[in-house]
Amino acid sequence: MKHPDERAWWRDAVIYQIYPRSFADGDGDGTGDLAGIRARLDHLERLGVDAVWYTPWYASPLADGGYDVADYRAIDPVFGDLAEAEAVIAEASTRGIRTIVDVVPNHVSDQHPWFQAALAAPPGSPERDRFWFRDGTGPDGDGMPTGWTSSFQGETWTRTTNPDGTPGQWYLHLFTPQQPDLNWNNADVRAEHEAVLRFWFDRGAAGVRIDSAALPAKDPALPEVPETWGAGEHPHLDRDDLHDIYRDWRAVADSYGTGPADERVLVGEVWLPDPERFALYLRPDEMHTAFNFDFMTRPWDAKELRESITRTLDAHAPVGAPPTWVLSNHDITRPVTRYGREDTSFDFAAKRFGTPTDLELGTRRARAAALLTGALPGSLYVYQGDELGLPEADIPRDAIQDPMHFRSGGVDPGRDGCRVPLPWTADGPSHGFGPDDGAPPWLPQPDGWGDLAVERQAGDPGSMLTLYRRMIAARRTEPGLRDDAFAWLDLPGALPGDDADVLAFTRGTGFACVVNLGTESVALPDGATVILASAPLTDDGRLASDTAAWCRL
Ligand code: NOJ
Repeated sequence: MKHPDERAWWRDAVIYQIYPRSFADGDGDGTGDLAGIRARLDHLERLGVDAVWYTPWYASPLADGGYDVADYRAIDPVFGDLAEAEAVIAEASTRGIRTIVDVVPNHVSDQHPWFQAALAAPPGSPERDRFWFRDGTGPDGDGMPTGWTSSFQGETWTRTTNPDGTPGQWYLHLFTPQQPDLNWNNADVRAEHEAVLRFWFDRGAAGVRIDSAALPAKDPALPEVPETWGAGEHPHLDRDDLHDIYRDWRAVADSYGTGPADERVLVGEVWLPDPERFALYLRPDEMHTAFNFDFMTRPWDAKELRESITRTLDAHAPVGAPPTWVLSNHDITRPVTRYGREDTSFDFAAKRFGTPTDLELGTRRARAAALLTGALPGSLYVYQGDELGLPEADIPRDAIQDPMHFRSGGVDPGRDGCRVPLPWTADGPSHGFGPDDGAPPWLPQPDGWGDLAVERQAGDPGSMLTLYRRMIAARRTEPGLRDDAFAWLDLPGALPGDDADVLAFTRGTGFACVVNLGTESVALPDGATVILASAPLTDDGRLASDTAAWCRL
């Protein structure tokens, strides 16, 4: 075991995700901003996180919450300016908190100067070559070049209009029409992104989170998506030439130094069902880590979670990369809601309005899930508000802003329910999100939001916030958790099999985590001393249903 100071920080970091629109509003316009974040850095320090990841804060029309970037070198005025971004990176750093920024290589905003120049330029021009412009099919060119389906449902091509008003070429967008896809075979696209990485690393960013990282490379022949495909054969997913891009990015990151203090890290948003293909992105000369969505989407079920944990550890071991553990993010139904439903798994396509939810049960399980993920080897992501146990909010239909809702024809509630501005104080018109005389929050806060406020939970030993603070503190001090070693512990009820309802494992020597996902209480290992539990033990010292405990053995 290495001394903590010699370990690369990102291998076991706790990384807090800030969605800047909804964290804290400093200027009172109803939208969160950098001034708000700077004023609330105490919260992050008290929580004990090692790094913050900011979803995009760049100049953007916010057609997709900022994942439509118009200028990577400018902060959107609604959030502040570049000097404030530099200040918040520096101030966090003095508190021992590193900064990870978001980069979106698959697409830019349709307001990006490159796309505007491409629209103004003729077919076949260098300006259009940075994107995927194609003639339509059929005699009038009014058929889409491919029948590919968008990640947000619906079509992936939009037709342009020529300067003389006649219909023009089509352009590709795997997401909304406001997010044209870039052509990664174009040298400008590659050079520009490497320059963007340097721009933010030069300003103190310790890493980048890479958006939709398995999508940017396309088959230039633009064939239809086949019914089944072999490794690397899909026309726009997980293509082999992506690895060259990330090797180039790794070289940029490594040029800042590879020692524990100066290392710059690449964190990929890689949604892939095949763990072996996933792990290829984590080879030593590519990304440092990638989000473990397999675990995140699994139901609250011991067999499923055990299988995902084993699969995750097995896939990461050969490439030497640490796993990551994620319960949610700004795209995913909040854990206390998800775990309180009949179907506790996550699937974008399954989201519906009015799904019955038992929040008490969901909260109990989310507390146990926090201790489970916190005890696994690797890095841990905490999405803002999960440390408060915020539920997914029901957003009134006329207040919904997420394009996923609109592109589903109004069937999918979209992702705004996990993006509601945070409650800091029990009282006040926005529960301390903004100044009391400020504009209302950009998304409405539901009834009862004040009960979940930071201020309310901070002094409460039974709160979700207290659990998260204790967990993160114990991750630093428990020797077993500073060690990569992991072994399943075969307690009664924890043997692999269909009827298993307990997850139990050791870390290093002398540390165990036990999670009871069943309905009956279970015994803890003989001689175990509980140092942290997600709910009180039973009167006879057993682990109750939907409870996790960290123990010294
Ligand atoms: C993944 C991001 O997390 C999501 O919010 C965004 O809509 C898509 N990528 C497109 O950039």
